[in-house]
Amino acid sequence: MIIIITGTPGTGKSTLAKALAKKLKIHCIDANKVIDEYKLKEAYDKKRKSYIVDEKKLSKILIKLTKLYPDCIIDSHMAHEMPKKHVDLCIVTKTELKTLKKRLEKRKYSKAKVQENLQAEIFEICHTEAQEKGHKIILIDTAKNKIDTCIKLIQNEISENKR
Ligand SMILES: Nc1ncnc2c1ncn2[C@@H]1O[C@H](COP(=O)(O)OP(=O)(O)OP(=O)(O)O)[C@@H](O)[C@H]1O
Ligand SMILES: [Mg+2]
Repeated sequence: MIIIITGTPGTGKSTLAKALAKKLKIHCIDANKVIDEYKLKEAYDKKRKSYIVDEKKLSKILIKLTKLYPDCIIDSHMAHEMPKKHVDLCIVTKTELKTLKKRLEKRKYSKAKVQENLQAEIFEICHTEAQEKGHKIILIDTAKNKIDTCIKLIQNEISENKR
């Protein structure tokens, strides 16, 4: 089973991905590592203080990796760019704005970067794009739910699907 975890930066993808991979005993792919390994950073956007990544190339490489790991979790706010046919389940993490702001400020992000990510959460960009791709989506609120509860919610959904 291929599970992708997407969502605005700071909404808890990596935390959830690692815990879920451990629980389900499956491999976890950190797309940031893939981006470095395959040198997918194209340029640095000084204003936004972030790298521009070739999302199409990333998607292609992620698809190849799913052939190598037919059961895995992919952790990335770009994972939902993968075509629907290569993905069984798309988890979208979300976080209430006050909590998200605190988490992002704790990372010492600039004011502009905190604002950019808060806007992305307000406009539900990852969620909307994942819907547009036609993925089967579970929305998980990591502000309301402790990590154990998040995992239970996902496991319930997986077993419902199997029925
Ligand atoms: N369910 C949760 N309950 C409480 N805190 C959480 C939960 N999930 C994540 N957090 C906290 O939120 C912060 C951000 O989490 P994490 O690094 O997993 O986000 P991310 O979505 O992977 O971010 P990025 O896109 O930048 O990699 C961390 O400090 C983490 O401890
Ligand atoms: Mg992360």
